[in-house]
Amino acid sequence: MSAKKIANATGDGPYTAAEIIDKIIVGNSWEIAEKLPSETVRSIITSPPYFGHREYTQTGDLEKFESGRECDPIVYVEKLVSLFEELRRVLRSNGTLWLNMGDTYRNGQLLGIPWRTALSLQGSGWILRSEIIWNKPNAMPSPVSNRPTTSHEHIFLLTKSKSYFYNADAIREPHITFSAESKMKGGRNHFGKRGGTPENGKNKGNPNLHKANWDQAFHPLGRNKRTVWNIPLGKFRDAHFAVFPEQLVEHCLLAGTSKGDLVLDPFIGSGTTAIVARKFERHFLGLELVEQYAEMALKRIKATPVCPGSFSEI
Ligand SMILES: C[S@@+](CC[C@H](N)C(=O)[O-])C[C@H]1O[C@@H](n2cnc3c(N)ncnc32)[C@H](O)[C@@H]1O
Repeated sequence: MSAKKIANATGDGPYTAAEIIDKIIVGNSWEIAEKLPSETVRSIITSPPYFGHREYTQTGDLEKFESGRECDPIVYVEKLVSLFEELRRVLRSNGTLWLNMGDTYRNGQLLGIPWRTALSLQGSGWILRSEIIWNKPNAMPSPVSNRPTTSHEHIFLLTKSKSYFYNADAIREPHITFSAESKMKGGRNHFGKRGGTPENGKNKGNPNLHKANWDQAFHPLGRNKRTVWNIPLGKFRDAHFAVFPEQLVEHCLLAGTSKGDLVLDPFIGSGTTAIVARKFERHFLGLELVEQYAEMALKRIKATPVCPGSFSEI
């Protein structure tokens, strides 16, 4: 199957770094990945089709490439790992992979697909840095009555190197323990006087109040992001499949990239990753098997307002 570019360029690859900026390439991600230039992408933010959940294609020629339709969960995981091995080459050495995955029940059993994948990726050379739980407060009700209704998915943060780009300040969250509302609102007094810090006041120099504690408790931008993210499901209904909530992509993008960086989604679907990238003045590259979805994504991307003068028209 040949990869076809839509958006504002044509060609079947191999692609140069300049050719993949702000593009969606239609085709099988596994084949396209091999044609992408090395060390070009700062973050990969993606949600592959879940194992055995949904069928995105109806025609025989596309079906055989479609991820999630493998007969066996082990084959599904092995295939995904082979894609991300290739994409590790495409990622810059200080880049990050943010992988969103949901689980599947088969024959009355939970398969544990997200963790099987995370551990296999770790075994293939990726560094597993965090497991984030995406809690969906508005998750669909389900008919089950012999177990809790599933209302979360996983996001794994994986890296290529031990030292990588991560902007903690960009995604801090409000303090709770020492906030004005909390019982410990006099928190700063624990340092010896109002306005005290680990550096000043009665307890100055106390090794227990080292910089990290200060950072967690009183950082002016909020506390370090936690590993449970409460984000309602997205509202975009035209896609007929689950799309990323923009807020979820926002957290990954802001922590993992700077303005002008290139963000890759190898399963771009309706284009959410690209839309958020544009909003925050990052460049995108999307890969998508189904041309109709790629066109839908492009339409949504074109309708996204961008910072005047900063980014070109698509
Ligand atoms: C879960 S959806 C992604 C939704 C996306 N996060 C969004 O916000 O719209 C997965 C997408 O992967 C695509 N896909 C499945 N197999 C593929 C393959 N082999 N190569 C490229 N894309 C594929 C599907 O067509 C579908 O659009």
